[in-house]
Amino acid sequence: TKAVFPVAGLGTRFLPATKAIPKEMLPVIDKPLIEYAVEEAVLAGIKEIIFITSHTKRAIEDHFDQNFELEEKLLNSGKDDYLEKINRTIFQDVKFTYVRQKNQRGLGDAILHAEHLIQDEAFAVLLADDLILNDPSCTSQLISAFEKNHCSVIGVNEVPQEQTSKYGVISGNKVDHEKATFLLNDIVEKPQNNPPSNLAVVGRYVLTKSVFGYLQNLAPSVGNEVQLTDAIKLMIQDETVVGYLYEGQKFDCGSRHGYVNAIKYLADNLLDD
Ligand code: UTP
Repeated sequence: TKAVFPVAGLGTRFLPATKAIPKEMLPVIDKPLIEYAVEEAVLAGIKEIIFITSHTKRAIEDHFDQNFELEEKLLNSGKDDYLEKINRTIFQDVKFTYVRQKNQRGLGDAILHAEHLIQDEAFAVLLADDLILNDPSCTSQLISAFEKNHCSVIGVNEVPQEQTSKYGVISGNKVDHEKATFLLNDIVEKPQNNPPSNLAVVGRYVLTKSVFGYLQNLAPSVGNEVQLTDAIKLMIQDETVVGYLYEGQKFDCGSRHGYVNAIKYLADNLLDD
């Protein structure tokens, strides 16, 4: 029922746009990236959203808060239709919690900031810059895989061999009865040569609480950042972790190419005005 949204990253690849605006607030047409991901989580049954945020990301808090003044003005000017857009019914019973990551030490460190909010339960992690479109959503598919396998589940997709150096890459054997499930036996962050496969990690995970034990005291590695990948590499020595080849269309909106493609795709497929 809980999902962690690490949103404290610097968004370097999108400068100067992200100098004063959080990367996660960049709009894909008329909705910020972060709202697509929060919507995905909530529709998959998540009841508490835990943002790992930073002092430059206040706009995210404001976005999920109520704006009474704007609501009043919309009401008074007969533009009630927009009320649902700024105060969505599906978010009404969802709890939003914010934790500050003071020092941007990496994704692994960001997730560790949620430890005190997670009881003895598995939790989802969503990186909003991966926009993934599908019904059932990628998060729903991973939750189903978790319910079947009772272990941490990592979303993966197939990428061309020459692109593996941009991602975390897993290797694993297919679980017999499930063509989409791989029993992890290795995971490498941004392999520069000899990638273990062409299965790249995407920004969707369901993790068991034990991951925090592996994240503690983890030294920074690739990019001088504390990497979630390194914690998972330790984890698979002790417990089962699976990769799940989800169905869906993914856009890497942390890159300019992916961002433009997402806008093009939605403009071509979903816009009715
Ligand atoms: P990225 O590797 O995409 O980094 O982080 P970034 O800062 O967002 O973007 P670039 O690479 O500088 O352009 C993956 C996810 O981890 C979060 C980011 O917000 C993003 O959702 N993150 C990363 C943190 O929350 N804290 C960190 O210290 C680093």
